[in-house]
Amino acid sequence: MPAIVIIGAQWGDEGKGKATDLLGSRIDYVVKFNGGNNAGHTVVIGNQKYALHLLPSGILTEGVTPVIGNGVVIDIEVLFDELDALIARGVDVSKLKVSANAHLITHYHRTLDKVTERFLGSRSIGTTGRGIGPAYADKINRVGLRVQDLFDENILRQKVEAALDQKNHLLVKIYNRRAISADEVVETLLSYAERLRPMVADTALELHTALEEGKTVLFEAGQATMLDVDHGTYPFVTSSSSTAGGAATGSGIGPGRIARVIGIVKAYTTRVGAGPFPTELFDASGEFLRANGFEFGTTTGRPRRCGWYDAPIARYSARINGVTDFVLTKLDVLTGLETIPVCVAYDVDGVRFDEMPVSQSDFHHAVPIYEEFPGWTEDITGARTFDDLPKNAQDYILAVEKMSGARISAIGVGPGRDEIVERHDLLS
Ligand code: GDP
Ligand code: IMO
Ligand code: MG
Repeated sequence: MPAIVIIGAQWGDEGKGKATDLLGSRIDYVVKFNGGNNAGHTVVIGNQKYALHLLPSGILTEGVTPVIGNGVVIDIEVLFDELDALIARGVDVSKLKVSANAHLITHYHRTLDKVTERFLGSRSIGTTGRGIGPAYADKINRVGLRVQDLFDENILRQKVEAALDQKNHLLVKIYNRRAISADEVVETLLSYAERLRPMVADTALELHTALEEGKTVLFEAGQATMLDVDHGTYPFVTSSSSTAGGAATGSGIGPGRIARVIGIVKAYTTRVGAGPFPTELFDASGEFLRANGFEFGTTTGRPRRCGWYDAPIARYSARINGVTDFVLTKLDVLTGLETIPVCVAYDVDGVRFDEMPVSQSDFHHAVPIYEEFPGWTEDITGARTFDDLPKNAQDYILAVEKMSGARISAIGVGPGRDEIVERHDLLS
């Protein structure tokens, strides 16, 4: 089996971490290819709960080689905090490989993220404040710092000084903040260099070799399709390519290697941060989803905005990513609802849109057109086959599958590792 990609089909937090963990025993490598510690993946194994941000979830599976690809932005302090926390819990992290070409998030990126958000006021994006946008902006502006720069002190110092020459003007004159010292930034970065050195590799070459040898490589996206910088609800997006195409650019493998694209989609919808969200609920139903689904951010603890399943978004994700299989997660959260509305199309100022409108203004004004399905009251957390599910739950899955543009191959019925109904093999 060649390369497999897991992506979020909505606005994040669909349960990508759990899906990666599910495939864990069948893969050799797991690669994070975009984003940074803005991600938050919760994986529940037995009575142990793990929250991962910068590291790929596959790190929890014994024998798997975890890789941080070139497309990731790395906050090196967070990297070691996360590694140390896992080591303390007995997880073997010794195989981790980090791309020499990945970019670094430093003190000034975090500061700029926070002050620019404050400056935007009511127009703010609601970022995670982790410095993601400013680090990617530096990458594209060609003034970023890369992992390999840590091993050439002269170059590192020159780059930090050049970046701060400009950024300190901004911080002091526009944002009324204190200037940041280049020496401090360089010292902090260098203090981690020797510990990082053995992990640093030409990860593109290593992955190429692994694929040539017939190994199975899983690419795990952070964020999701609707947060992708190109295909999401711009400007209310993250700053990276979180769709399947990003797996190739963010790791250095050829796109033709990708054989399967697994879209993770919740049985309803959530969003953290600002931006349009047509099926958002502001009533007791929204509270029901938030409380039952425990919809609070893994990274920032913010309550997630909740709404019904949006089929045009699932179809859009299927198309943009070339989804071969969906994993429909958190179906158990819907248990107890009398009827379950599903958005099948939008009404924009009297015009029906069956697909995602290309104009952001239209999407901001999109009013969902709902179809309603009867709910169920039976506890489904013990279901392991499709036939174990109540008839109404089966009908809901079949209806959603028909609207969403790809087969639903697995269904999440609880947070635990084995709380899953498998319908089709995800890898074939
Ligand atoms: P990710 O960012 O896509 O990896 O998702 P998060 O970890 O941020 O959020 C998903 C949450 O849902 C986590 O707390 C998971 O433990 C939980 N979860 C995943 N699948 C299921 C499921 O099928 N049912 C329930 N109840 N919880 C689930
Ligand atoms: P996972 O991988 C949900 C959102 C932020 C904000 C926007 C930009 O757990 O699904 P950023 O800090 O990236 O510049 O913020 O993107 N966001 C996420 N929302 N899940 C995530 O990751 C997210 N990562 C970023 O809330 O609206
Ligand atoms: Mg998350």
